[in-house]
This record gives sequence, C-alpha cells and structure tokens, in this order.
Amino acid sequence: MEKPFAPSCEKNREPILGVLEDHFHDRRAVLEIGSGTGQHAVFFAARLPHLIWQTSDRPENLPGIGAWLEEAALPNTPPPLELDVLQAWPAQRYDAVFSANTLHIMPWTAVERVFAGLPGVLAERSKVSFYGPFNYGGQFTSESNAAFDRWLKDKAPHQGIRDFEKVNELAVLAGLELVEDRAMPSNNRCLTWLLV
Ligand SMILES: C[S@@+](CC[C@H](N)C(=O)[O-])C[C@H]1O[C@@H](n2cnc3c(N)ncnc32)[C@H](O)[C@@H]1O
Repeated sequence: MEKPFAPSCEKNREPILGVLEDHFHDRRAVLEIGSGTGQHAVFFAARLPHLIWQTSDRPENLPGIGAWLEEAALPNTPPPLELDVLQAWPAQRYDAVFSANTLHIMPWTAVERVFAGLPGVLAERSKVSFYGPFNYGGQFTSESNAAFDRWLKDKAPHQGIRDFEKVNELAVLAGLELVEDRAMPSNNRCLTWLLV
C-alpha cells in the first residue's frame, strides 16, 4: 500500500526527539498512543535503538503504520496494536508512553479515558510524554493556536486545544507528577510526567 504521509511529522520530529533523548534514555519499552501514519515511530525507533517502540492506533490506521514499519524493517518496532482508548487497553506494561497531537483530536471523554487507562499499562516509575498545543490560564498561547482551535471545532465540535491545567489534573489523578513542560516550535509543548 502507499504509505500515508503527514508533513507535520517531518517538522516536529527533531525537537520531539530531543525530549525523548532526555527522558527516555533509560527506558526499555514505549507504548505510542495514536501513532497516526507511523512516521514518528520509524524516526524515533531508528534513533533510540535501546527502546522497543510499540505503535498503536484505531483499526483504520494500522495498515498505514504497518507499511512504514515494514519498509523500515527495524528490529525494535513490533507490529502495531489496535488501541482505541475508549475500548480495551493492552494487558502488557511499558515503562514509557508517548503520544503526539492526539488530545485535541479526541473528545474530552476520551482524554479522560487516556489518563484513566494509563495506570493499567505503566510499570513503576514510568515516564509519559505528550506533545501538542495546550492553553494556559484559559488562554491561547498564540493567534495561530486560536485559529487552529477554530478550524478544529469547525471540523468537529468535540475537538479543541486542551487546557494544560485540566490535563495535568487528570495526570495527577493517575498518579503522575509533571517533571517537564517544554516549549516546542510552532507554539506546541511537550509535557512529561513521572509515575510516582
Ligand atoms: C492528528 S493525528 C496525530 C497522529 C500522530 N501521532 C502524529 O503526530 O502525526 C490524531 C491521532 O489520534 C488518534 N485517535 C483519535 N481518537 C483516538 C482514540 N479514541 N483512541 C486512540 N487513538 C485515537 C487518531 O486515530 C490519529 O492517529
């Protein structure tokens, strides 16, 4: 099959790699939620060969992710798992979770399910990193994020840029402690938590 392609992944992968190098250097197995095209997975897994990079997504995205993994033929990328966060979660545990650009796409009920589901797949002292746009103090951090939010809501009213504070509240309820909130290019953030 022709591989799906997201131009955004080419732009944000280097800065995200910097975060993963800092926080995942001592990790062994990462569950990626909402892997999308699979582009991030092959880029990160090739550069972080000490990690098993487990992709996952809703069923319709698995063939595309599989096409990227098959072409790259890396030793550390098992076949993608079917994971809709509103359905059953994998039984296996991981010492890291990564997800990019998912929380503003999912409805808020699914965001809640992400954080409710995390404790069931995390090993002790796991790290969790989420990349994407966030609001602070109920405000957009830029005009471009405000425009992006309007565009998201026009496409589907359940979508929208999430409040950092509300997401962090869910994380705290899941037993996570924020260890870094890193500013990323294009008014994005990378939030990293530790399971305490
Ligand atoms: C904008 S794409 C981001 C894809 C990729 N992570 C990236 O950065 O290019 C949003 C992703 O969230 C996934 N997603 C949306 N709802 C989901 C759900 N309920 N469970 C799991 N993944 C979901 C979509 O399937 C899609 O892959």
